[in-house]
Amino acid sequence: MSTQNPMTPAETAENQEHTAPRKKRALSCIQPSGIPTLGNYLGAMRNWVGMQDEFDCAFAVADLHAITVRQEPAKFRRQINEMFALLLAIGLDPEKSLLFVQSHVPAHAELAWLLACHTQFGELSRMTQFKDKAAKHADNINLGLFAYPALMAADILLYQPDYVPVGADQKQHCELTRDIAIRFNNLYGNVFTIPEPYIMKNGARIRSLQEPTRKMSKSDENANAYISLKDDPDTILRKFKRAVTDSDACVRYAEGKDGVNNLMEIYSAVTGRTLPEIEREFEGKGYGDFKAAVAEAVIEELRPIQQRFDEYMKDKAQLEALMKQGAERAYAVARRTLSKAMKKMGFVLV
Ligand code: TYM
Repeated sequence: MSTQNPMTPAETAENQEHTAPRKKRALSCIQPSGIPTLGNYLGAMRNWVGMQDEFDCAFAVADLHAITVRQEPAKFRRQINEMFALLLAIGLDPEKSLLFVQSHVPAHAELAWLLACHTQFGELSRMTQFKDKAAKHADNINLGLFAYPALMAADILLYQPDYVPVGADQKQHCELTRDIAIRFNNLYGNVFTIPEPYIMKNGARIRSLQEPTRKMSKSDENANAYISLKDDPDTILRKFKRAVTDSDACVRYAEGKDGVNNLMEIYSAVTGRTLPEIEREFEGKGYGDFKAAVAEAVIEELRPIQQRFDEYMKDKAQLEALMKQGAERAYAVARRTLSKAMKKMGFVLV
């Protein structure tokens, strides 16, 4: 006798969603505005790899965000491919996590408009990243740069994540996302999960090697200020040797020792040793030995990633197939949230 399931597969899934305990969800993105730095890696990307088993994860290359500053088309195209390859190379697994490129899923731009209409001028004016970038690109303070947090809120809210694993510099944007989501839900009913920023203690704010009061940034004009994930061992060693320290000549973590503190944080994030352990390890030794040890640890951390990156970049067909697969899966999830938001707002859906 055949038994008929009274529910369609979609209804079954919907039903399970409400009854079965589900894994917590996490989402994060990175701009393809150059090869990521050690800061991006230790502050965010490396943590994503470790989250894949515990959480339902989605990670995207935020290419729409990158055009808030001018990009040169050929270089931009290469950077998008490279960033996607790098996500794979660090160990993000498309079988476990949703990996995609933001512009392949039009729902991001669509929801961004709906959310922009629920975001206040005053809120956007207070964003530190806007103020920094506006000062840096004074000749191109465009609407997109100003509205950037509404697009970021759309990236996040479309996938209903519980957590957003980012470095400390993105906390403000994540908090604005929460405010927008709460406002939207209060107006129209429950549409969005309210996400929380998920910031690791170790490596959350890696600083410039040349100006250690500022964050390490891939768009820094001085290449000695950052370690790129593509830097070869000689370059990494040279950049650490040139890193700004102080005249104290003692490896200890203390106020006013920004350069040494930063190197200690990097070493701690890579080796897993605590700051007191590091102080003991380098007791009686100078900065030369310390810098060489930091460089060596970073070189070994990056070596396998660089090898895998080269392999992925050689196989463009595979890269494209994985992008396509990610786009289709992401579209299915994003479309559902967008439709729900539009329906609740009163749009006529056909
Ligand atoms: P982006 O591309 O500047 O940086 C990607 C991630 O790296 C972290 N990060 C750092 N962490 C520690 N030390 C540093 N020096 C450092 N520099 C960067 C960032 O905090 C980030 O987690 N707006 C985002 C991209 C984005 C996004 C999103 C993130 C777009 N949509 C949705 C989360 C969710 C950005 O510009 O990151």
